[in-house]
Amino acid sequence: MQSRLLKRLLVGVALAGLSGTTAVAEPISPASVVAEAASPEARADALIARMTLVEKVGQVSQQFVLGSAALVETRVRAGSVGSLLFVRDPVVANRLQKMAVEEARLGIPLLFGYDVVHGLRTVFPVPLAMAATWNPDLVEQSQVVAAREARAVGIHWTFAPMLDLTRDPRWGRIVEGPGEDPYLASVLARAQVRGFQGETIGQSGRVLAGPKHFLGYGASEGGRDYDSVNLSDAQLYNLYLPPFIAAIEAGAANVMSAYMELNDVPAVANDGLLNGLLREELGFDGFVVSDANAVRSLIPQHFAADATDAAVRSIRAGNDMEMSLGAGAFDNLVGAVRDGRLDEAVVDRAVRRILIAKFRMGLFENPYVDASQAEAVLQAPEHRILARQAAEQAMVLLQNRDGVLPLQRGAHQRIAVIGPMADSPVDTVGPWSFADKPDETVTVFKGLKARLEGAAQVETAPGVQLRRGTTSMFAAMRPMPRRWDAATAEAEYARALELARRSDLIILTVGEDYYMSGEQASRVSLSLPGEQQKLIDAVAALGKPVVMVMINGRPLDIREASTRVPAILEAWHPGSEGGAAVANVLYGDVNPGGKLPITWPKDVGQIPLYYAHNRTKDPATTATRYWDGDSAPLYPFGYGLSYTDFQFSDIAVDRPVVSADGKLTVSVVVTNTGARTGDETAQLYVHQRAGRATRPVRELKGFQRVTLAPGERRTLTFTLGEAELKYWSSAERKWVVDPGLFDIWIGGDSRAELHTTFELR
Ligand code: NOJ
Repeated sequence: MQSRLLKRLLVGVALAGLSGTTAVAEPISPASVVAEAASPEARADALIARMTLVEKVGQVSQQFVLGSAALVETRVRAGSVGSLLFVRDPVVANRLQKMAVEEARLGIPLLFGYDVVHGLRTVFPVPLAMAATWNPDLVEQSQVVAAREARAVGIHWTFAPMLDLTRDPRWGRIVEGPGEDPYLASVLARAQVRGFQGETIGQSGRVLAGPKHFLGYGASEGGRDYDSVNLSDAQLYNLYLPPFIAAIEAGAANVMSAYMELNDVPAVANDGLLNGLLREELGFDGFVVSDANAVRSLIPQHFAADATDAAVRSIRAGNDMEMSLGAGAFDNLVGAVRDGRLDEAVVDRAVRRILIAKFRMGLFENPYVDASQAEAVLQAPEHRILARQAAEQAMVLLQNRDGVLPLQRGAHQRIAVIGPMADSPVDTVGPWSFADKPDETVTVFKGLKARLEGAAQVETAPGVQLRRGTTSMFAAMRPMPRRWDAATAEAEYARALELARRSDLIILTVGEDYYMSGEQASRVSLSLPGEQQKLIDAVAALGKPVVMVMINGRPLDIREASTRVPAILEAWHPGSEGGAAVANVLYGDVNPGGKLPITWPKDVGQIPLYYAHNRTKDPATTATRYWDGDSAPLYPFGYGLSYTDFQFSDIAVDRPVVSADGKLTVSVVVTNTGARTGDETAQLYVHQRAGRATRPVRELKGFQRVTLAPGERRTLTFTLGEAELKYWSSAERKWVVDPGLFDIWIGGDSRAELHTTFELR
């Protein structure tokens, strides 16, 4: 295999310089490579010159492999598909790759893509939880691990990070993203791209990053997945775009266009969005892939007349590759070029971008993966350690009345871990995980049992079963549990209460299951699904110590629950080591320091509710806008408690006046005034008093998570400059910085009170 490849490379060298000649379908032609030392661009050009139209269209076509690969094999051998997704078995990947490299005429290697969203075999907390760590280094390291595991099984490219901001927790995909804030999202976007890709594309053990979904998907009307998005350009630029700018600056090789229509033009065929904003304005030079079947979907959207129309308009708009299950609309590009409906140069442009990525990844030199090493990488113990640390850092202590937490080992002999997620591996890892092994997942029950070995008897019972009303689109990949019949439901409920009665501490795990957030998992309400509230009420009524641990991917309406139980820990879907992390946090080995990356509403009727709203003409009544309820959140953005206390003091700016192109240094002292070591995240918020637009009451523009011992004080500094103070003005249609007075607050959440000002002149 190696020597054949070498021969091709050598012939490739000999053929260097053929670029510009007409493509002829020779029966056997050498690998498409000019001298290895030549640039990826030159190699791509030389290769394109030798490709037939059918081969070119192959390169812009990506096919799903779900179940058997037989369906795609003919295409692979014919060189009429350039990329596959959902292959995660290295032996299968090598087999298919061999067909592409050795059997297809030009031997162009396949690019394997996959949704490596929060880990592969080792599952990290869901992305919303990772955002709650406010720790870009940890986020980067988690994606280094994810990339390593992906690469070990032959995956070259991840459809991540998902960078869709959202201010609507009804939207199921809130779980996959960074939350509501563009600054936090941008910092984490950069970290994730670096983690996935490394400093340069093609580093060993790294994958191509594909930030998605471009652009505005998180603003779908009513939080209904796929529904239309209507956004002003001010909202697009100031909110939804910044994380993508950060990802592109970090070198992301790919971008996925979105499903929905943005201001009436579907993103996948939106010339202004892809050719204009993404490439011309942001300077993105990688390739754009569509979302699954999104090109063909232009037909039911009543945007395209037929599949050819859809394909032609999509590729022309700058969507380079079509992701498709079955026959793709892009297959029609061959006919469109032959009929003169499409200039072949448009196809070449897309092929070139894709081939450059393949060359940069080194696939022509190293198309295969060493399958014998895969399992060792997937089981690397250091991956599990990092997953546990991530889960620990992601947990947000929402409530801790009377200092119920941390618990004392030995203080309770009989402990009940009750609730539908208590011992469920699939709900512990959460949505967008398919490659984990359930018996390797540490559930809350397993984590507590291990932590309390020899000190307490730990038992579990689900009590109630969760079922979403409709079948999840992921049920085929992760079968949904069989529904309990009425008798089972009654017996299980009674068994859980009986267990609670004979226990002296109850850990209640409530929230949402694997299928209740993610794609096609929007909700009309934020209530605790199923009979969980009834279970909470019944357990709380026993008058025993109860701690509530939430497993979920969106804020839920827990007003009632929060009056019943003294302590609430938000654990999210915490990943493979989630239960171990929960045990460590509950028992105080780890002091929780996660902070909410989203505003937590009280009631679904308050949505959208976010901290960075504008002031309005009546700022005093912001929290009392409804006559039948208040408009304040249950927990504010940036919020999270600790087992210790922190104090912020001595806020100072290094100069009272700064020029538009100057820099300002802001300092603050943070002190651990309590008795335990803990983490605090200093959050800096800015507000502009007057300008060409009304600006949010406050906007996050800096943060630092620090660990402090009891009594320890630390001076932190932040820099503010044009990058932090500029905004996109819809009046001027450009980025502007307004002179005038600015407020700064620094503190432990978005209600920070420690204040100073400066003037920009
Ligand atoms: C559809 C989702 O919208 C997208 O995020 C994902 O990457 C693709 N399916 C592939 O799984």
